[in-house]
Amino acid sequence: MESLLKVNDLYVSYGPIKALRGISIEVPKGSIIAILGSNGAGKSTLLKSLTGLIPSESGTVHYQGRDITKSSVERITADGISHVPEGREIFNDLTVYENLKIGAFTIKATSLPPEAVHASIRKRVGSSRITKHGDDEQLRLNKHEVYENNLARVYELFPVLKERTNQLASTLSGGEMQMLAIGRALMGTPTLLVLDEPSLGLAPLIVKRIFEVIKQLNGYGISVLLVEQNALQALKIADYAYVLQVGEIVKKGVAKVLANDRELIEAYLGK
Ligand SMILES: Nc1ncnc2c1ncn2[C@@H]1O[C@H](COP(=O)(O)OP(=O)(O)OP(=O)(O)O)[C@@H](O)[C@H]1O
Ligand SMILES: [Mg+2]
Repeated sequence: MESLLKVNDLYVSYGPIKALRGISIEVPKGSIIAILGSNGAGKSTLLKSLTGLIPSESGTVHYQGRDITKSSVERITADGISHVPEGREIFNDLTVYENLKIGAFTIKATSLPPEAVHASIRKRVGSSRITKHGDDEQLRLNKHEVYENNLARVYELFPVLKERTNQLASTLSGGEMQMLAIGRALMGTPTLLVLDEPSLGLAPLIVKRIFEVIKQLNGYGISVLLVEQNALQALKIADYAYVLQVGEIVKKGVAKVLANDRELIEAYLGK
């Protein structure tokens, strides 16, 4: 499968601490890739360095065939990689809607596969704007339609955000905040969604919903790079997974195979 993101031999240090030591991973287009590993393994560091939040010492990151190793966060976001950080980083003093609006900061007119366009927008735009890209059909949307589409999509996935649209974000529950964080990332029309422990600290029912949503988004054509400590759940929805231990990849493989690897689950994932 065509590669969307390719990280090659990445090294990252915090002063004397070598957090990543030669990491190579790949996200094929349309896939869900999981990064597993215990506390301090370097999972968040990997995500931060490939989205431009912290610099790497050596190694390369390629996205859609282009070298983005030294690109700024703003550039990387505008290019279609949305990062939902650990701890969510919601703006507490803003409403739910205002938080979502911030996520749309970088949107532009674009073409999307019809299944990624909300039914209401598809109906309004009609078939006149369908273009063919090889065998694939795409719907051309102007910037305003992209905004409306993304918002309709977020409200459809998370009806609770629509109910609470004018409520201050600080008043949301933990689960609702995670939904808002994912929703805000979706407002930017990501091609690749990078999620850092989306299930952390949430009740089992909410965790289940978050994993369902990730699967659903993948069905809309969004590729996902998912960091999780909830290994078994992550392996259920992922195509392929990497296990990180003190800055190195100690295991990788097809998610279904790893899910049945008792030794792995016991040794690295503590379960
Ligand atoms: N800003 C920083 N300054 C110094 N050391 C850091 C910094 N951020 C992370 N580290 C160290 O780098 C290593 C990897 O941290 P990282 O946050 O990437 O791990 P993680 O796998 O995401 O862990 P967790 O599961 O706890 O989120 C750890 O040893 C951590 O202490
Ligand atoms: Mg982390």
